[in-house]
Amino acid sequence: MTLRALHDAARKTLDPVHYDYVAGGADEERVLSANESAFDRYLLLPRILCGSETRDTTARLPGARRAAPVFVAPTAFHRLMHPDGERATARAAAAEGAVLVTGTAATTAVDSVVAAAREAAPDPAVWFQLYLHPRREVTEALVRRAEQAGCTALVVTVDSAVFGRHTRDLRNGFTDLPPGHAAENMRDLPGAPPGSLTDIPMSAAPTWRDFAELARTTALPVLVKGILHPADARLAVGHGASGVIVSNHGGRQCDAVPAALDCLPAVVDAVAGRTPVLMDGGVRRGSDIAVALALGATAVGVGRPVMWGLAAEGEAGVRAVLATLRDEYDHTLALCGGRRNADLTKDMVVRRGETR
Ligand code: FNR
Repeated sequence: MTLRALHDAARKTLDPVHYDYVAGGADEERVLSANESAFDRYLLLPRILCGSETRDTTARLPGARRAAPVFVAPTAFHRLMHPDGERATARAAAAEGAVLVTGTAATTAVDSVVAAAREAAPDPAVWFQLYLHPRREVTEALVRRAEQAGCTALVVTVDSAVFGRHTRDLRNGFTDLPPGHAAENMRDLPGAPPGSLTDIPMSAAPTWRDFAELARTTALPVLVKGILHPADARLAVGHGASGVIVSNHGGRQCDAVPAALDCLPAVVDAVAGRTPVLMDGGVRRGSDIAVALALGATAVGVGRPVMWGLAAEGEAGVRAVLATLRDEYDHTLALCGGRRNADLTKDMVVRRGETR
């Protein structure tokens, strides 16, 4: 099954309102389309007569031993896609050796997500995504839940001081989760009934001080997700981040920012090797992974493709998405004369219409 076929199958299976919730972006969805089309502007310049019969595509990531270069980006409400929800995603990611970032807005509690991952692999890497909450005790309670569940890193999303205006959801009147679904990680936490789409309380004015405080309360590595400006990448490293994720939230927040891929090179320069730089947004093919890695990413995240795989075929669909991307990437690496991810270098990427 190609990613495109899984997407088509998901569209046929899903309630159109739920399909729109995942497929859509903010405002006029300019950034949503820019993320994907950015990859079309970059081409690879392979090197020759330097390849190898076998390749090692593992990436070194915080809290993961041997990770695929593709991770599952945090996306909310997997049980809207399939009754097995996050547990199916977790089993699939673990079986494929991919880091799963499960989120505060998951419809399955984090301990159950990690338990499902352990059914598929002995030592899975599950990271927990959270926002900086207006009440510090809520943030801390979430951190403790993630630690106790066995998560190996935290991801703090910093691009969401307010919710993006999701045009399709507004048009569809989609504000509440269907009965029986809830943001389970928020259950029993103060001031946060887990019922509706926008019930994940986020601080409207989080600061680096809040971030540093959170990083101090845990021994887990903490990554920052949602960085576009190189100065913020430098600040993240300076405040103890163990990794930086270049992301515009899949075009669901500010609809006037560059494609995530276009922000990557400057962030890589700013971080200068002090922490891994990850990116997500618009990755749909193995060659997209190769381009991002050549531009300095350590790994790339996929959001919507995983949701389509889940909706179409549950656990098997998510495995198909991750395996397809892995195989396509390995194939591209071979064709570029690479043995390892690090063999893809900046000089091997050109803009369409340019050569070296
Ligand atoms: C997201 N994303 C997201 N990010 C985050 O930090 N916390 C969250 O709860 C969510 N929820 C969410 C729901 C849905 C339906 C989507 C599509 C996305 C953003 C996500 O982590 C990632 O940045 C993008 O999805 C990456 O872009 P692609 O791969 O979907 O193009």
